This record gives sequence, structure tokens and C-alpha cells, in this order.
Amino acid sequence: MNRRDWLKAGFLAAGGLASAPALAFKGAKLHTHAPGSVIQEMLPIFPFDESRMMARLNANENPYGPSPKVVKAIAESVSLGNRYGHGDAAKLIEMIAEKEGVKPENIMLGPGSTDLLEKTAFVQFQHGGNIVAGDPSYMSIMNTTQALGGNWKAVPLTADYAHDLPAMAKAVDANTNLVYVCNPNNPTGSITDAGALKKFCTEVSAKVPVFVDEAYLEFLEKPETQTMVGLVAEGTDVIVARTFSKIHGMAGLRIGYIVATEERIETITEKVRSTMGLCVTSLKGAIASMQEQNFLSQCKSQNTECREYVWDEITKLGYEPIPSHTSFMIFPIAMDGKEFMKNMYEGGVGIRTYQMYDQSWCRVSMGTHDELAYFLETFKKVTNA
Ligand SMILES: Cc1ncc(COP(=O)(O)O)c(C=O)c1O
Repeated sequence: MNRRDWLKAGFLAAGGLASAPALAFKGAKLHTHAPGSVIQEMLPIFPFDESRMMARLNANENPYGPSPKVVKAIAESVSLGNRYGHGDAAKLIEMIAEKEGVKPENIMLGPGSTDLLEKTAFVQFQHGGNIVAGDPSYMSIMNTTQALGGNWKAVPLTADYAHDLPAMAKAVDANTNLVYVCNPNNPTGSITDAGALKKFCTEVSAKVPVFVDEAYLEFLEKPETQTMVGLVAEGTDVIVARTFSKIHGMAGLRIGYIVATEERIETITEKVRSTMGLCVTSLKGAIASMQEQNFLSQCKSQNTECREYVWDEITKLGYEPIPSHTSFMIFPIAMDGKEFMKNMYEGGVGIRTYQMYDQSWCRVSMGTHDELAYFLETFKKVTNA
């Protein structure tokens, strides 16, 4: 029985966790990102048997993708695997450049935006220095920076979980090699005002490049009014990152890109390769996905619908989520985070748990409606609601 059938026939109809497959959960360890940071992530410790997870809501994956046309394009491209994908990379770069209103020289591809975050960190922090970024935020580039010997200057988010741009501008010093802004932000799901961010990027980039991570941009109502990509065409030293992992539903296919000035792309690509890490299958898939406007807008509207559903149900239970502009939602929980995580995983539900602002939080990704119904049922049982 596949997961969907199991959901329909099993849990929801029979109404019990009794039949849910237990994941062998062995506990959780706290991962502290930096001394003084408001956030610690709880990492589950167990043999990760994904096939036993009934609702996989822990990694902000898109449950609908990749689109059938992408699957077909990938299947047809497998036999081309004896060749490097440079031609397809050039084609994809052309398509992205046209979409973003820049030149191909402004684009660098990578196997996911993680690769581009890491490569940027490698180039900017190989001799140390500091990165200025919000706290809490998406930790990938801060972790790499710190691993390379650099420092993270953490700037607390404002009371409504936006980036505190004036404080971030103030934090930039002579040793700052990069500023990182995740917008919308992960794990808070919150947004920073686009007008204020544009002004910030323009001013701060005169001193130091600003990396704007727009992994969740496409889930916004009017993404074209929120992106910083227009600044690149004006010659501003911003590095805007996008991914095919979220709205395109291609997380496991590993493809993403950055848009930056020609000079900035050159300073990165003279040290690390751009298209060498890419599979021809993923390239063909991304090319197909860029033409899938209907599929992409369906993903977006289903995401919005699911977000409203979870918001309604969770607030009815008395919880207060942070208003989300993304494909996930986070809210403080009343019980111990480790215990909560253990019980959720044992009930077959993957979620992310954080210790943040001195309390435990649950972050849940927008799966399908069925998966979220299962999440909510399990959540109620685990929290005795
Ligand atoms: C804000 C943000 N940036 C980047 C990534 C990395 O995505 P990928 O490497 O799959 O493109 C993620 C993944 O969850 C994310 O949340």
C-alpha cells in the first residue's frame, strides 16, 4: 500500500496512531549555531527509514513535484549521460537570464543553492572575516563561514521577525566580507519589507556584497515586487540565490542558481567551477520546469490553501504561529521539544523542532492536505489536545 492509500484507508478512517509505523527514535541532540544565538536546532537521532514516515514535513519539500513533463524530460535524457551537460547548462542559463532580465554572464548554476551558498562562503571567507546576518535565520552560509574560521555577527530579528536592517548596516565593519539576508526567512517564514531591503542593499553593497537568499520567493503573492534581482541589472553588488528545490519540486535533483554582477560571478568562478557539478538529467529537468507555468502556479495555490488550513487548525488549538510567507509554518509549543519530536516521529510524522527565544518551536512544512491532516491528528494526540 502506498503512503497516500495508507493515509486514506488506514489512519484517517480508523482514526488511530495504533497502526502508525514507529520510527526507531533514539533521542535528539541540540545543535548550537553560535554562542549567543537565539536558536538551537534539535536534530533527531535515529536510523532514518524514510519509507516508514507517513508525513514527511521536516525539510520544506514540495509534495507535488517534479511535474510530469519534468519527469519525462529527465527520463529521456538519461541516455545522454555519457556527455557533459555544458550545452544544456548554457541553454538553461540563457533561459534564466531572459526571465530575470539580466545577461547570461550574470548567472552561475550549482547543484542546489546550498552549493552556491558554500562556494560564496569559500571565496569570501578563505582568509577569515565576518558575516553579518539575522538571527534566527537559515544557517547554511553561517555554518560554512564559521567552519572556515570566519565569525558570524548575529543581528536579532525585529519583534515582527523581519531583518533589522539598520542594526545590520551598523554591524558591518572593516572585517565584514559578506552580508546575508534570507527573504522570506527560514525558519521564521517571515518577510522583510522589499523597499527597505532594496535601499539597504544599495547602500551596504558599496562596502560589502549582500547575499539575498530567495529560496521561497515564488510562494509570495507578487514575487516580482519582492525580489532583489532587479538591482543586479543596475550594477549593485548583490548576489541573489534561487533554487529549483522548492516551487519546482526538484529538491532531490539538486539545481539552483545565483544572479550577481559579472564581476562578482567572475570572482567566484575563477576559484570554483559553475556547471561542472551538474547532471544532464537535472539540467534537462530544470529546462522543462521553467516552461511549466501552470504546474508552478498550482503548487503555489495548493501551498497557500494548505497554509490557511494549518493556520486555522493550529490557532483553533490556541497556538500562535508566525504569519508565514513560505512553504512552512513555525509556532511555539507548550511541551518539551525533544519529547515532542520523539513522539511525532514515532507517530510517523517528520517535523523540525527548534529551541528558540528560550522555548520549543515546531516547524511544519506544507505537505499535501492529507499529510497535514495526519500531522494535525498526530499533533493533537502527542500534545493531548
Ligand atoms: C532559505 C534556504 N536557502 C537555501 C536552501 C537550500 O536549498 P537547496 O540547496 O536545495 O537549493 C534552503 C533549503 O531548505 C533554504 O530553506
